[in-house]
Amino acid sequence: MSPVARETASTVDLLRSGAIEVDVPIEVWAQRFESVYREAAGDRGRVPWSHRRPSPSMVNWMNAAAPGLLRPGARVAVVGCGLGDDAVFLADRGYDVTAFDVSQTAIDWAKRLHPRHADLFEVADLLDLPACLRHRFDLAVEVHTLQALPPACRADLAGGIADLLVHGGIVVACARGRGDDEPLEGLSGPPFPFTPRELADTLARAGLEAVDEVCSFDDENDPPVNRLRAVYRRCDR
Ligand SMILES: C[S@@+](CC[C@H](N)C(=O)[O-])C[C@H]1O[C@@H](n2cnc3c(N)ncnc32)[C@H](O)[C@@H]1O
Repeated sequence: MSPVARETASTVDLLRSGAIEVDVPIEVWAQRFESVYREAAGDRGRVPWSHRRPSPSMVNWMNAAAPGLLRPGARVAVVGCGLGDDAVFLADRGYDVTAFDVSQTAIDWAKRLHPRHADLFEVADLLDLPACLRHRFDLAVEVHTLQALPPACRADLAGGIADLLVHGGIVVACARGRGDDEPLEGLSGPPFPFTPRELADTLARAGLEAVDEVCSFDDENDPPVNRLRAVYRRCDR
């Protein structure tokens, strides 16, 4: 049986148990995310990454740094938006938001959850962006999508994020962190946490330049989870 056929019983259980096969084509991952949303059948508690609030790391950055870097009403893309909490937060701040996800079920669900903002949400694949999303945004917000796919997919995903941006556009990327002493090989995700150096290299190889050093901090969970936040800029030469 193919990995996908085997997983349709419960993708969430396989993800939670760490028993999911990692070394599969990138398209299989898109089907897996779709399966998680479909299996959840409208119950947010069954979507492991849904916290019913915008990412605290993204919110902190938007409060502290974004006003000095972005004009009011700037165009913002929310990548892999899931159920839409980050997108709604940004739209309520007055930004011109487009939020997309590869999962049709996630997008339909986000529209139902946020009817006032339903027109923000669309289905799109970061790995195969339509022309209307390319080189259009002043800011790309990436919360936990780079870390959700295996390390072999990082370069393609980061390339897609860079393609969203206008010249001078900024990406804020939020991911789990891990120590330099924890080997990349054999990580059993998702998530697949980054070291600060890996996150910096992934974004730099996509042609982006650092605005700040990658920020590493422990969150408020008990026990705390190490988090990274990277802010990079597209600077075409
Ligand atoms: C771990 S979830 C995070 C969702 C959301 N950002 C959040 O923090 O709640 C990763 C999301 O990325 C989406 N995704 C995965 N691959 C994608 C792709 N190639 N293009 C667009 N979205 C993708 C998944 O469907 C999923 O919603």
